[in-house]
Amino acid sequence: MDLLVVGSGFFGLTIAERAAAAGRRVTVIDRRHHVGGNAYSENERSTGIEVHRYGAHLFHTSNATVWEYVNRFTAFTSYVHRVYTTHKGQVFPLPINLGTINQFFQAAYSPSEARALIHELAGEFDTKEAQNLEEKAIGLIGRPLYEAFIRDYTAKQWQTDPKNLPAEVISRLPVRYNYDNRYFNDTWEGLPVDGYTAWLERMADHPNIEVKLNTDFFDESQPLNKKAVVGQLPIVYTGPVDRYFDNSAGELSWRTLDFTEEVLDVADFQGTSVMNYADADVPFTRIHEFKHFHPERADRYPADKTVIMREFSRFATRDDEPYYPVNTPEDRAGVLAYRELQKGERDVFFGGRLGTYQYLDMHMAIGSALSMWQNQLN
Ligand code: FDA
Repeated sequence: MDLLVVGSGFFGLTIAERAAAAGRRVTVIDRRHHVGGNAYSENERSTGIEVHRYGAHLFHTSNATVWEYVNRFTAFTSYVHRVYTTHKGQVFPLPINLGTINQFFQAAYSPSEARALIHELAGEFDTKEAQNLEEKAIGLIGRPLYEAFIRDYTAKQWQTDPKNLPAEVISRLPVRYNYDNRYFNDTWEGLPVDGYTAWLERMADHPNIEVKLNTDFFDESQPLNKKAVVGQLPIVYTGPVDRYFDNSAGELSWRTLDFTEEVLDVADFQGTSVMNYADADVPFTRIHEFKHFHPERADRYPADKTVIMREFSRFATRDDEPYYPVNTPEDRAGVLAYRELQKGERDVFFGGRLGTYQYLDMHMAIGSALSMWQNQLN
């Protein structure tokens, strides 16, 4: 073995695939029972509908190198992501656009009229002086739209009143002064034609790659554990950076999500893939309806059944899946301390969202793995 990769998410698999293609013998370990990290999906048993196990995953990128690379393993559908939100019994398009504004104010504003209105409403607070997330958001889009679409949704995501959240949690709130409600602005967008797991498995399918599942790097009863292998060969580590150092500079904080899945005997539950719930009286943040991610599979998916998943957000405990970095000042200090400690680890390369404590979209995880391979491991 020439290289050990800890974690089989997009970061780890990209490194493993590049190294294998260059003739290195690679072992990938993952503590889960499947490859693919959080992008893993599987078909719901009774319907065959593909469900994204760790939350909805939409692929999008403007990075030509990443786009060329991912197309070696999968083709992409022409799916274009759009999101709607329910507020006080009405459905509005997101991100906030001219359609949202005109529906909300029951008006027919032109782009320039809407821009002038939002500018006037946003004058209530100067964003540079904002003391908290609420003031910042009002300074960006004005109180009415903030209270309808941002306040309670943010409170549900963070289990915290936005008045008590730091202003830095948001840098901007996009408002589009046209009717474009495409969720992403990237050059390329789509879903893997044969599903995420087929894509991820193809990346690992190389004679030079051995994958060992249900294998935890910190489990000293298995041969490829941290104590036994660090210093023996190059290691790419994509697990949580704090765990690697026994939390010696503190545990970094994360938000997690809970999902409740239901199979319903209806052809179509909500008419779209993602519906947000903006109000406080609904405890979940959104509902995913998976058949809408693949309209091209209509002949394969049951006509009279659908799979929905409600999403609830909360702070993670040590036993939960870490999903989104909270990034408190203590977390930022912890990350800096861990970066110092990393310098003392010979031939261990930290990458991916857990290894660097950063939210990374899939294209970013793949792009940074390609750079690490090129600049540090090749
Ligand atoms: P990832 O977490 O996928 O993989 C790390 C792997 O390491 C895991 O498989 C884990 O089991 C393993 N591991 C950890 N500790 C270990 C140990 N001690 N021993 C062995 N293995 C260990 N992106 C996007 O582009 N579009 C989207 O729509 C979404 N949606 C989305 C929704 C939600 C809810 C989340 C949380 C994330 C997204 N993402 C996304 C981001 C996407 O999931 C992310 O880019 C990739 O998971 C990053 O891949 P990594 O390899 O860095 O981590």
